[in-house]
Amino acid sequence: MQIQNNISLKPFNTFGIDIKAKHFISITSVDELKAVFSSEDFPKKFILGGGSNMLLTKDIDALVIHLNIKGKQILSKTDTEVIIESQAGENWHEFVLWTLENDFGGLENLSLIPGNVGTSPIQNIGAYGVELKDTFLSCKALNLETLDIETFTNSECEFDYRNSIFKQRAKGKYIITSVVFKLSINDHKLHTNYGAITSELEHMKIEHPTIQDVSKAVIAIRESKLPNPKEIGNSGSFFKNPIISKDAFLKLQDNFPDAPHYTISETEIKVPAGWLIEHAGFKGKSFGNYGVHKKQALVLVNYGGAKGSDILALSQLIQKTVARIFDIKIEAEVNII
Ligand code: EPU
Repeated sequence: MQIQNNISLKPFNTFGIDIKAKHFISITSVDELKAVFSSEDFPKKFILGGGSNMLLTKDIDALVIHLNIKGKQILSKTDTEVIIESQAGENWHEFVLWTLENDFGGLENLSLIPGNVGTSPIQNIGAYGVELKDTFLSCKALNLETLDIETFTNSECEFDYRNSIFKQRAKGKYIITSVVFKLSINDHKLHTNYGAITSELEHMKIEHPTIQDVSKAVIAIRESKLPNPKEIGNSGSFFKNPIISKDAFLKLQDNFPDAPHYTISETEIKVPAGWLIEHAGFKGKSFGNYGVHKKQALVLVNYGGAKGSDILALSQLIQKTVARIFDIKIEAEVNII
């Protein structure tokens, strides 16, 4: 285990923000992780997973622990199901591609999501009609108080839209070290009803899609709308889609009859934040080296050299403007550090 000092975190966050960690360590096993937490040398610690869901606004005056624990294992298999455990430091998309190469179904709609396996349960990643919770069986997590490894089942994670116990009661108390998934073999259930997938599969001239075809369609849609963090710094959706009351939605509809929306329950409606931001005039707006992506207004981008504080200020301006025009509060989805 080697501790480095004054390291730039630019390669470790997909926004590409150049801020420094006072101390930095890359961890490759659960034992190393426990050792770091039992030591009293660095009282302030900060956990870094894939760095894909955070905006760094200031230098980190702590020991930054880069979770780099790798490995995946088939725990059991029948004719129709396979149980797989992946360690936290596996790259999410590479893991999805590996499941597809083995013809294991369930994660294809979640192709090309940035980040690592270990952080996927925290915000219950989701895309194109599928959420992590649909295939998640359990995860192991290090309890930072007792240094014991505990298991959380699906229901114990309290999954919700972009939410889980790890963003609520358990926040800051655990580090997820591995995730167990239940995937299908042979008997795959495809989720192709999401509008963009249907039309992409038609465009690809595929009538009877396989899980691999669905993945290819999702990759094509994401590449056409979302910037590749290797080319343009970003953290995916910067905001959550707000869920508002039916009354508030009816008021919105009076002024904006075309507002897209999804019914969540009898009393709640979800409105796409991307639509609100676009109609507040921000889509594609550039402020020098940062701005709002031109193809998806939900994504804020760093064109190179932007400061986290500039992007934070832009996000606050967007929130204020959306609140003024639509009377709707939109909340950041990324963690602001
Ligand atoms: N829209 C606009 N303008 C925009 C963007 C979107 O009017 O600039 C409208 C679209 O026309 C459409 C609606 O908003 O009617 C929804 O757009 P889209 O299908 O692109 O999805 P989204 O709600 O904007 C969510 C997730 C994405 C995920 C997609 C696909 C959240 C916060 N975001 O976006 O997740 O890929 O659905 O399932 O729920 C991420 O979390 O980083 C992410 C990219």
